[in-house]
Parts: sequence; structure tokens; C-alpha cells
Amino acid sequence: MNARISPAPAQSDLEAFWMPFTANRQFKANPRLLTRAEGMHYWTADGRQVIDAVAGLWCVNAGHGRREINEAVARQLSVMEYAPTFQMGHPIAFELANRLAAIAPPGMDRVFFTNSGSESVDTALKIAIGYHRARGAGQRTRFIGREKGYHGVGFGGMSVGGMVNNRKFFGSSMLPGVDHLPHTLDISHNAFSRGLPQWGMHLANELERLVALHDASTIAAVIVEPISGSAGVVLPPVGYLKRLREICDKHDILLIFDEVITGFGRVGKPFASQAFDVTPDLMTTAKGLSNGAIPMGAVFAQRKIHDAFMQGPENVIELFHGYTYSAHPVACAAALATLDIYAKEELLTRAAALSPRWEDAVHSMRGLPNVIDVRNYGLIAAVELEPRAGKPGARAFDVFLKCFERGVMVRQTADVIALSPPLIVERSHITQIVETLSQVIRETA
Ligand SMILES: Cc1ncc(COP(=O)(O)O)c(C=O)c1O
Repeated sequence: MNARISPAPAQSDLEAFWMPFTANRQFKANPRLLTRAEGMHYWTADGRQVIDAVAGLWCVNAGHGRREINEAVARQLSVMEYAPTFQMGHPIAFELANRLAAIAPPGMDRVFFTNSGSESVDTALKIAIGYHRARGAGQRTRFIGREKGYHGVGFGGMSVGGMVNNRKFFGSSMLPGVDHLPHTLDISHNAFSRGLPQWGMHLANELERLVALHDASTIAAVIVEPISGSAGVVLPPVGYLKRLREICDKHDILLIFDEVITGFGRVGKPFASQAFDVTPDLMTTAKGLSNGAIPMGAVFAQRKIHDAFMQGPENVIELFHGYTYSAHPVACAAALATLDIYAKEELLTRAAALSPRWEDAVHSMRGLPNVIDVRNYGLIAAVELEPRAGKPGARAFDVFLKCFERGVMVRQTADVIALSPPLIVERSHITQIVETLSQVIRETA
């Protein structure tokens, strides 16, 4: 295949693209442009090699430039570039759903396709309301999210999310009837925990308080990320997710796990719910599903949820929801090739084997100047820095920039540096990432 590497745009050509979640003017004054990727690495427009310590944006789990995916995409494009899935079907959509059902948590063998994590979240919220309605409990429309939660940027996901900046600009244009659990990040109790923190399971009991306030009969679902990524890696305390499950069961409230980040091997099992042995009713995914090569998302539903819709006359559409590009053939081809790679290279469980080494490496940063916490699970880690007085986020942003200059791409949120490398990462890469980050933290006052 002929690869055409785009030339770097001139400074004046940077203006038209209104960049997402980016300080546009700051970026365009000093752009960081990536033009090629392979394996664990990107190359910049000026030819520098940069190791990818965040799997693109937590999505390139099988590493970059996977030939099998590229070929599957090219093949599918040449055979049939698009086909609708409204009242029509195409074979690989069904094949992909079956393949996903085979690796899903117990009973979650019904799959609804979307194009992103945000769409998966909005889809899951709608399914939850529809499920209760189908069972004669149409008054259950309320959702419980969690502080520091990130569930994408749709109005539904934004409303159940709990990241202040993502919400405050949009005023009261939120879903009504949403409440939030407290987040579980508490450095005063849990700093430098290795793996799941011991303290904080009782925070799940706050759900009982919200149920008492709103009454269970008004609540459709609770949505949480098993591990929050975007808010700076927030881990569930030991026993916390099980407790949430118990309380939801007690009150007939659905439990939705947002596994957009944790899905597809990030925590050493295909899904975090399997790692934590807690099965939700609905599970949202995207990112690693297609290795980031072609946008795709999927919502997994328990059979009982799906079947609740399958009533009434058979000629009536059961769920008035879907996207033009649900189960897009090219995305399906990319996802199938991705699943083949995951199976062949055992990537969905590789993080479990690597995580002791990963944990030791990232915790070696304890004691560096301004490091106030290191947390980790699977192939995820975060280093939290003491904020500069009156300048939240500034120190970690400097660290992010310097790391990039030294050939390591990390992710910064507030004063947290997050790491989540492709699951093909080798020990030497871990050493390089941690040594560079440590050096930069030492140099960044
Ligand atoms: C947990 C979670 N949910 C939803 C999303 C939104 O996904 P997308 O950006 O594909 O819409 C993200 C993105 O990072 C995420 O981490």
C-alpha cells in the first residue's frame, strides 16, 4: 500500500480547524503535529520519534499501523463501502456482534453499535429508560452519575458526568433529574496505593442516601466508569463496585459500566467488570473496539434488557434509536481484524502479566519533587503533582510539554499525568517512559 504522509501545514493553514478539547491559540502558536505512527511510536512533522504512552487517546490498544486492520479496511472499502442497518443488514455486523458476545461479561450477549463513546453512553441511557418503560415503570427516568465521571460530550453523557469544566459552560442545558455520587479519590487516605485503594468502599453507600431522597421508583440507572480515566485516573476502592451492584439490585435500578477506556484489555481482562467480578446490566464501549483505526462504539446489554423490548407486534420497531453509521461495514471490518489481533497475541490479558512490572516502575516516581500521589491498575497509571499556587494544571502541562519534546507522549488532566500505553508495550518501553517522565518531573519546579 502506498502511504502518503501529509506535509506539515503552514502556520497560516492552522486556523480553520477548530480543535476539540484544545487551547486552540496556544496550540497553534506552537503546534505539536504527528504525521506517522507504527508500533509503540509516533513521528512528528519534523521527523522526531515519540513513544506513545497513552495509546493515542486510550484507544490504540494493539499498537499503531497494524497491517491486518489496514488490509481489512481496504478490502471492505473495495467490496462495499457502506450499507444501512435500518431495516437492512450486512453479514459482518452480525459476525462482529457474535464475536463480541463471546468475550463479553456473563449474559451480556446483545450488542448495539454506535460510532463513539459519547454515542454509546447516550444509547445506554436511552435503553435504560426504555427498559423500565417496557416493564410498566415509565416513571423511572432519573439517572445517578458520579462526581469526576466522564461519559463523553453528548447532552446525556455530559449530564451524568461530573467534570466541572465540561458542564459549567452549558448552564442548565442538562438532562433534568440527574444526581451524582461522590467520587472516590481521596489522597489523604489512599496516596500511593498499589492497585485498588483499601479505603472508601463505604462511599458506595451514598447511593442509598440518593435512593432515599429521590425514591427508587424514579431512578432508571446508575452509571459509573469502573476506573475513571479522563478525570485523572480514579480507582474504585476494594469492594466499592460490588456494593453499588448490591444496592442497585435491591432497588431494581440498572447498573451501567462505562468501559470506553477500561474495555478491551486495559485492565488485564477483556473488560473491567470481569477483572472486578461485578457484572453490570449495560456496558458502554468504543476506543479499543476498533483499535482507534475507524470510529466505532458498542453497547452491550444483558439478555433480559434486550428481551424486555422484544414484545408487542413483530412488525413494530422496538427501539426508536440508531445511527446512520451503526455497524458501518468498514468499522466492522476494522473491529473484526482488531479482535483477531487481540486473540492471536493474547493482548486482552497481557496487562495482567505486565502490571507488577508496570506498578513497580510507576511507583519508583514516589519521592520525586511535587509528586503527591501515584496510582495504578492494569496498564493504567497516574502521577499527581502538587499544583503551583494559584495556577492549577500549569505544572503538569509543563511536564506534558517537556515529555513530548523528549520523545514521550503522555496525557495531562489538571495536575495529573496519565499513562496508558498500547498493550504491546515492552519492558524497555516502560523503562523509557518512566525514566523520561521522572527526569522531567525533577526538572520542573
Ligand atoms: C469513560 C468514557 N466514556 C465516554 C467517552 C467518550 O468517548 P468519545 O470521545 O469516543 O465520544 C470517553 C472518552 O474518553 C470515556 O473515557
